[in-house]
Amino acid sequence: MKRQLHLNLFIHSRGHHEASWRHPASSPLALTDIRYYQDLAQRAEAALFDSIFLADQLALGDDVSQAARTWLEPVTVLAALAVSTSRIGLIATASTTYTEPFNLARQFASLDHISGGRAGWNIVTSWLASAAANFGAAGQVSHADRYARGEEFMAVVKALWDSWAEDAVIDDRRGGIYARPERIRRINHNGDCYQVSGPLNLPRCPQGRPVLVQAGSSDTGRRFAARHAEAVFTAHMEKATAQAFYADLKTLVAAQGRVPAEVLILPGLSPMIASTEVEAGRLAREVNELSDPEVGRKRLSGRFGGHDFSHLPLDRPLVAEDFPAPDAVEAARSRTEVILNLVRREHPTLRQLLASLAGARGHFTVAGTPEQIADLIEDWFRDGAADGFNIMPPLLPSMLDAFSAQVIPLLQRRGLFRTSYEGRTLREHYGLPWPKGAFDEAALAQAI
Ligand SMILES: Cc1cc2nc3c(=O)[nH]c(=O)nc-3n(C[C@H](O)[C@H](O)[C@H](O)COP(=O)(O)O)c2cc1C
Repeated sequence: MKRQLHLNLFIHSRGHHEASWRHPASSPLALTDIRYYQDLAQRAEAALFDSIFLADQLALGDDVSQAARTWLEPVTVLAALAVSTSRIGLIATASTTYTEPFNLARQFASLDHISGGRAGWNIVTSWLASAAANFGAAGQVSHADRYARGEEFMAVVKALWDSWAEDAVIDDRRGGIYARPERIRRINHNGDCYQVSGPLNLPRCPQGRPVLVQAGSSDTGRRFAARHAEAVFTAHMEKATAQAFYADLKTLVAAQGRVPAEVLILPGLSPMIASTEVEAGRLAREVNELSDPEVGRKRLSGRFGGHDFSHLPLDRPLVAEDFPAPDAVEAARSRTEVILNLVRREHPTLRQLLASLAGARGHFTVAGTPEQIADLIEDWFRDGAADGFNIMPPLLPSMLDAFSAQVIPLLQRRGLFRTSYEGRTLREHYGLPWPKGAFDEAALAQAI
């Protein structure tokens, strides 16, 4: 079959632009109102998106007076969306640093059962210093330690998801046997960070395992993705870095003995769409004018692990020396590199830098006509930069609707995107293999 695009809708606040919450075209519903998310998920499903995604951070930002976020706990939201949708994939962020693997394996297996095989987990190691302060830690866990812990975490959750054979439950009412204990086994994990006996207290989930998504792009993050991820979210402000990332990650995947086509790379794309380029540009400027550079300055500081940028004037061209080196940052290392590349390339003023980050926090933003957006998508897709996109509408729901009604039909006409759902599960939408039942016959001796 011809290679097809994959589209994920990243739902964030009333849109990805940091001032979207104030814009008259964004939704009037409260961000704690489940109907807001139900409505968006149903719109995305009607447009045949592969999946929706909810991000998460484990701390309140210090910009709350001027920032609106998706406050609700994502797995809880997705459980509600699972029963208000029937086909679209449901992906949520959860942290390997601040969750126990048993809890996480159970939550996502439950979501997979509830949704009939549509669950995905965005694996994050959590980079916010303020999140560390909510979990009794003495300080922030270092970048290297977070990934080392994440590695062990993955071994545990995979073993837990595999701890039930697919045929363990027979539910034989006449014979009086519900499950076959010889098809369920302990995992007996005894590692540096976790000691977990298992098995999971829940039958194997419809997809075998939820789809594993990852979004760390540092060197360590890429290696982690190459071992575990089935889809990768990534942020680029230019096509060239997206191509370099794509080539590098596919090579790392192959080096792990995995099939490169079975790891989808989905860069972020935040399109402002109008019938003319001039009108799209005007809309983008209109939203930009609603944002406050001082809010952006605080966010920038958060990205660089709390680095103080308060002394930087807004209107002097920036140089790389205005920033700490990315490898000294314990927070979100790869995004700091995206920002520094932009500074080295274009020497924007702080005001200009903050305006370009306001659109989608370092993801690719574009203002144009539906044809221009479809051309860009096709170009990145055919030219080794993407297997699909993480669509991040700057305003919700208006720019989702514009994308669905005006860009998706162009992609369909070009034979790049589905015209109906073929499968029922997220794995099927993404064209991913079923994880082999890792239920190891040799381990039967250990069965409970
Ligand atoms: C599209 C996208 C979504 C992300 N969502 C989250 C999130 O919900 N929570 C989080 O803590 N980090 C999130 N991240 C950040 C990464 O997962 C990662 O933690 C960060 O880039 C730091 O890792 P690195 O230093 O390996 O890049 C996201 C990144 C991208 C590109």
